[in-house]
Parts: sequence; C-alpha cells; structure tokens
Amino acid sequence: MSKKLIIAIDGPAGSGKSTVAKLVAEKLGYLYLNTGAMYRAVTLKALSAGVDLDDESALIDVAENCVIEFANSGTKTLLDGVDVSNELHLPHVDKVISDIVKIPGVRRAMVAQQQRIGEQGGIVTEGRDVTTVVFPDADVKIYLDASLEERAKRRYKELKEKGEEISLDEVEADMRMRDEKDSSREDSPLRVAADATVIDTTHLTIEEVIEVILHEEEIL
Ligand code: DC
Repeated sequence: MSKKLIIAIDGPAGSGKSTVAKLVAEKLGYLYLNTGAMYRAVTLKALSAGVDLDDESALIDVAENCVIEFANSGTKTLLDGVDVSNELHLPHVDKVISDIVKIPGVRRAMVAQQQRIGEQGGIVTEGRDVTTVVFPDADVKIYLDASLEERAKRRYKELKEKGEEISLDEVEADMRMRDEKDSSREDSPLRVAADATVIDTTHLTIEEVIEVILHEEEIL
C-alpha cells in the first residue's frame, strides 16, 4: 500500500494499545506515536520542577514549553533532550497525571504537537482521544478494551519486572480511579468513536489482536 495511513488506537490503560501499536508500526515501517508518553513527560517535568499541581497556568506553561521528541522509531521518549523513557511509568507519575491531563490548555499544547507529528501520515498512534479529537479523520480507528482485572494483571506484571514494590490490589485500585477520571473529564474524555472497530483483548494474544487490525482493516 503506497498511501501513508494514520492508524489511531484508543482504549483504557492496560488494554494492550502500546504493545499492539508499536508492533503494527514496526510491521508497516511507520512511526509509533505514543500520546500518553507525551502527557507523562509533561507530568514528570512538572513534578521534577516542583510546580504546584493546583496551579493550572503554571502547568500549561510547562506543557507549552517542553520539547518532547521520540527516538528509536518512537519507543524512546526524550524530554528536553534527555531520555526519560524509564521514568514515565513510575507510580508517582500515575498518581497525579489524571489531574494534569484534564486541563484544556495542557491538552491543546499536546494535541498541536501530535497533529504536527502526524500531518504527513505514516503513523500508528495511541491514547485516549486520538480517534476522536486528535485525528478524527484517521484512516483506521480502533478501540481496544479488556476487563479491569486483566488490565490490572498486565500492568502489575510490567511494574514487578521493573522491580516496583506494589500490590495487585493497589494497581487495580489506581487503574479504576484513572479509568473513571479519563472517561468522565469534560475535555476529550475517553470514549468509543462512532466509526471505530472495537476489539476486546481480554482473551486474545497480542498476535491475534494485530491480525484483526491488519487483516480486518485490509491494511496489508
Ligand atoms: O496511555 P497512558 O497510560 O500512558 O496515559 C497516561 C495518562 O494520560 C492517562 O491518565 C490518560 C492520559 N492520556 C490522555 O488523556 N490522552 C491521551 N491521548 C493519552 C493519554
């Protein structure tokens, strides 16, 4: 296929978006654009600069002035030139991020960067609003879902592998809270786009999900 597509994938935490998007991008030779990593980088910068998390305009200022770049086909995230990939998923980021990403000015700054990165096509992007707000005209729209229990297990395993001291119950409670906040915020809540293909990944392997995306959507 010669046209460079925009493939957009939304869904809650732990639904498999990152793994699937990364692999689909690799197969197609596309850029992987992880929009959650951008919000995580802003959160990290605000935390490390000691910004008051109740000060919306200071947070917007951080979002408007940080330089986020992707390296290694999108698998590494650079914040102001420094590789922060290993810090983005730490629990102290997860704890506060929902309150930062709901701020419209923060979202506007990130959406503008995301649209610039994707304007030529040839991307597989994932997040919470990439099928609805960032790329409403994406060529392919997918909504990935899975049960909360399964999603918490997946994230718990990832954190344990990184040596984090956290229980499965804590991970699940944290995820439930973030799901609620992401779905109920006023600006760009997580929702299923009318023209998205919904895939429940609870009982599917990564390969099966990729198969559905590439073949049902007739990309290959
Ligand atoms: O996908 P993730 O868990 O890395 O996302 C981190 C947070 O950022 C999560 O709370 C949802 C939010 N997010 C968002 O609001 N919009 C996006 N496009 C991507 C992520």
